[in-house]
Amino acid sequence: MKIILIAALASNRVIGINNTLPWKLSADLKRFKALTTGHTIVMGRKTFESLGRPLPGRRHICVSRSYASDHLLPDPRWPEQVFWCGDLFSALKHLKREIGATNEIPIFVIGGAEIYTQALPLADALELTHIQSSFEGDAFFPSYAKMFEKTDEKFLEEGEQKFSFAQYKSLRPENIFVRRASKNDVQFIANAQIKMALESEGLKLNPQKVEAGVMAVLNDVLKGEYLVAEDMSSQSHCPVGCLLLQKEWSDWRNGTFLWIHSLYVEPSHRRKGICHWMLTVAQEQARTLGALGMRLYVDKGNRDAQEAYRNFGMGGGHYDVFELEF
Ligand SMILES: NC(=O)c1ccc[n+]([C@@H]2O[C@H](COP(=O)([O-])OP(=O)(O)OC[C@H]3O[C@@H](n4cnc5c(N)ncnc54)[C@H](OP(=O)(O)O)[C@@H]3O)[C@@H](O)[C@H]2O)c1
Repeated sequence: MKIILIAALASNRVIGINNTLPWKLSADLKRFKALTTGHTIVMGRKTFESLGRPLPGRRHICVSRSYASDHLLPDPRWPEQVFWCGDLFSALKHLKREIGATNEIPIFVIGGAEIYTQALPLADALELTHIQSSFEGDAFFPSYAKMFEKTDEKFLEEGEQKFSFAQYKSLRPENIFVRRASKNDVQFIANAQIKMALESEGLKLNPQKVEAGVMAVLNDVLKGEYLVAEDMSSQSHCPVGCLLLQKEWSDWRNGTFLWIHSLYVEPSHRRKGICHWMLTVAQEQARTLGALGMRLYVDKGNRDAQEAYRNFGMGGGHYDVFELEF
């Protein structure tokens, strides 16, 4: 299965306003129809509502958190054509099992903003229509430049509008999906932190305390957000890495820095680009949020981690961390 995100975006990355498209571009609609007809299309609840009715010749997988199920449930109005699922990642996993991991059959993720943001690190390719002027809007395509490589672009015009059709391929390590953590990941993340503390600082953490600490984050998005890297190559789809993102307000800069904590990759999966990819995903999420940059601290003796962060382009900075523990 090949996951392709298809979107039209303005030069300021606007994709929508008031749950509609801000422009009329018939060449783009024709291209969308030509690429997606005969295939499965995946979308968020709001995008499905903006369509108003299912599009002919395509199977629709719509996601809404109001569905408590991880399975695909037929919509009673269009039981053959429209299916609902309570979780985007579960819906994609289900399709991967059904279609098969190795073949090239595409499924198209068609938006909107919330769904593109989550699906971007899972995508194999992008089909983007770049509209070369800016538009007013309230929905934006996420930042993606470091995660993809452009493979083709054709420039066109329709009336006053200049635009291009561009194709991109993902730079992610093969079979590695980075996604938001869910409560099912608590054990993996807690164990990862226990192993990391032992490995990097020789510290033995209290498992119950760490588990409660991880659960506190998973229950309260204001405390932070974990990303989990999952190895999709085996049937069991096991998590192999994680990191924690936390926001810090800077009054000097009148903006937010994103802090990276708790970055861990299982020893069996190191030196495969997973750490670099998780940082890349975090970096693009930071850009999407409009953050000023990313920061982290690392133990002074942890040379491997320091090298990994330098390779990623992060500098040592000029601050020392001072602590007063209670
Ligand atoms: N230019 C383009 O190519 C393009 C394409 C598509 C859409 N758009 C535009 O994008 C805008 C809509 O984007 P949007 O971000 O507001 O909405 P959206 O992404 O279409 O839908 C968001 C909804 O999807 C559900 N959802 C999100 N993440 C989920 C998850 N992980 N698991 C289960 N359900 C999940 C939630 O539904 P519940 O609230 O029901 O839980 C959420 O409210 C519109 O303006 C539309 O016109 C533009």
